[in-house]
Amino acid sequence: MGRKEPASRSTGKALPEVDYEKLGQEAVERIASAGDLDALEALRVEFLGKQGSVSALLKTLGGLSPEERTEVGPKIHGLRESVSEALTARKAALEAGVLEARLATETIDLTLPAPEAPKGSVHPVSQVMDELAEVFADLGFAVAAGPEIEDDWHNFSALNMPESHPAREMHDTFYFGENRRAPNGGRMLLRTHTSPVQVRTMLQRGAPLRIIAPGRVYRSDSDATHTPMFHQVEGLVIDRDIHLGHLKWTLETFLKAFFEREDIVMRLRPSYFPFTEPSVEVDVGFAVESGPNGKARRVLGGGGDEPGHGWMELLGSGMVNRRVIEFAGLDPDQWQGFAFGVGVDRLAMLKYGMDDLRAFFDGDARWLRHYGFSAFDQPTLSAGVGSTVGARS
Ligand code: DAH
Repeated sequence: MGRKEPASRSTGKALPEVDYEKLGQEAVERIASAGDLDALEALRVEFLGKQGSVSALLKTLGGLSPEERTEVGPKIHGLRESVSEALTARKAALEAGVLEARLATETIDLTLPAPEAPKGSVHPVSQVMDELAEVFADLGFAVAAGPEIEDDWHNFSALNMPESHPAREMHDTFYFGENRRAPNGGRMLLRTHTSPVQVRTMLQRGAPLRIIAPGRVYRSDSDATHTPMFHQVEGLVIDRDIHLGHLKWTLETFLKAFFEREDIVMRLRPSYFPFTEPSVEVDVGFAVESGPNGKARRVLGGGGDEPGHGWMELLGSGMVNRRVIEFAGLDPDQWQGFAFGVGVDRLAMLKYGMDDLRAFFDGDARWLRHYGFSAFDQPTLSAGVGSTVGARS
């Protein structure tokens, strides 16, 4: 038995009469009138799919003799090309139509809430500093600033804390190396309080003065209620006739505005600070209430001697010591005034109900998301200086 030649290889056999041009025309017409993308896809499969008619024709090329292939090949390839061009063109037209139809019929609902963009929040310390600035601006105080890297004259000596003063100890103060000296020869250090801003501002601006100075301060101290860096706000009023009564009224007005409670009760206790004479410590009355988690918590308001109440030490203050006024270049027989200093972090904790100071400076974004404030939550005295959005109890 001889080998069976594939039928089409037999040169003697005539090629099937196919009108490729007509096939092409028909295909292109059908494609051009495809009504939608689904119909177009069905046509693509019909012609060019694995089992498609044009694909089938292409497959026959392999069985032809070289001469036949030279004759029929270009026609079949031409057919496939015009079909695929027609498909591409119709697809583009249909897609454009779909888009146009969507544009013509779809409307945007402007009343829907916009998707929320990720945003940061204002740290409670910054928020409270803004609130302090707002309250004191209303009382005619400007905001003053001084360097965090201080020399020992401004931080200690000029505040009537002589060389031997215990607060100068290495234990409390972060000193710079001996080789780094201030222009006045003094040692450099991280300021241990905001009080040097009193001296700097008197030296720079003279009197009269009404300033607050919020800022960072540093002490070598670390536990649940102390961090090596914390925040204070200093207050200073210098004029000709300022007395303790002004101090008391100012602090009372400030505490009522800041804590947004009329029932804040203050108690002044005699105390000692080198830079004030006389010095007073200010206590504020609080009530013991049970918090949301059942734990007892202190809420400012009411007299500390009432049943279920107590006194909390809040800040230090007094009449500015004559020696400080002198050191700051003013005549203490003409100028006198009061000063106070208070922990900003403490104020924030009391007002907004945080209980761990260390969390303030951990930089944990989850804490900030919880306790932080919206950037739009600007404190204003007229609206109640506290936050309406970020405040949690
Ligand atoms: N500087 C003091 C401290 O850091 C706080 C202070 C007390 C400031 C009394 C004052 C003041 O202005 O009069 O502990």
